Amino acid sequence: EQRTPLIAGNWKMNFDHLQAIAFVQKLSWSLKDARHDYTDVEVAVFPPFTDLRSVQTLLSADKISLSLGAQDVSPHASGAYTGDVSADMLAKLDVGYVLVGHSERRQGHGEDDATVGAKALAAHRAGMVPMICVGETAEDLEEHGAAAIPVAQLTAALAELPEDAEFVIAYEPVWAIGSGQAATPEQAQEVAKAIRDALRELRGDERADATRVLYGGSVASQNVAGFLRQPDVDGALVGGASLKVDEFSRIIQFKK
Ligand code: G3H
Repeated sequence: EQRTPLIAGNWKMNFDHLQAIAFVQKLSWSLKDARHDYTDVEVAVFPPFTDLRSVQTLLSADKISLSLGAQDVSPHASGAYTGDVSADMLAKLDVGYVLVGHSERRQGHGEDDATVGAKALAAHRAGMVPMICVGETAEDLEEHGAAAIPVAQLTAALAELPEDAEFVIAYEPVWAIGSGQAATPEQAQEVAKAIRDALRELRGDERADATRVLYGGSVASQNVAGFLRQPDVDGALVGGASLKVDEFSRIIQFKK
């Protein structure tokens, strides 16, 4: 089966809209210089909400083939939800992907599995693809092994989504995020395979074979190829290293 690798840069709370424009412009030049083939590797950036409009304008004006993602979405359609941003608002900015269930939202904002599922559903209904983030903490790892918690989180999120919904999964061991201590490629493969096996049960072979499972957690240009060589790892969700143009450009040009 053919799954186009996806390299996604999650900027988290970095770059105002002017810095965002400068970054995307430089990234696009860098990829042009390197003759990057966008049919081989899809590249997505996930800027803060306040940058989306500027990045959208730049992408459409300069015909830059980057995909655009948002870092969060409200589970509600509209109404009295101060500070929230709806899925329709994002879709109107040509946002294609929405992160749901990032560990920084689960931990820092108390998001539980039901909320993550509701957010994934809101994104899907608006025509976007939810990128469902799952991963175990260091304590989970010790207590349950690597795969049990991610698979349970995935199962809960999918319970809300219709059978035919498209989604991407990002496996991010919480202990590897921003720690400089990435999982080994073998560890990432083990959980990615467990996730794909669970998908086979939950959604059938066709969806399981078509769904991209990314690894995230201290990905850098030096280690990205090792992850992408694994049969069940289809890309990377990159945090810190996605904020440096040259480094992110090298990650995108990984050679297996
Ligand atoms: O969403 C991205 C991840 O949380 C990974 O962050 O690459 O800085 O470890 P990191």
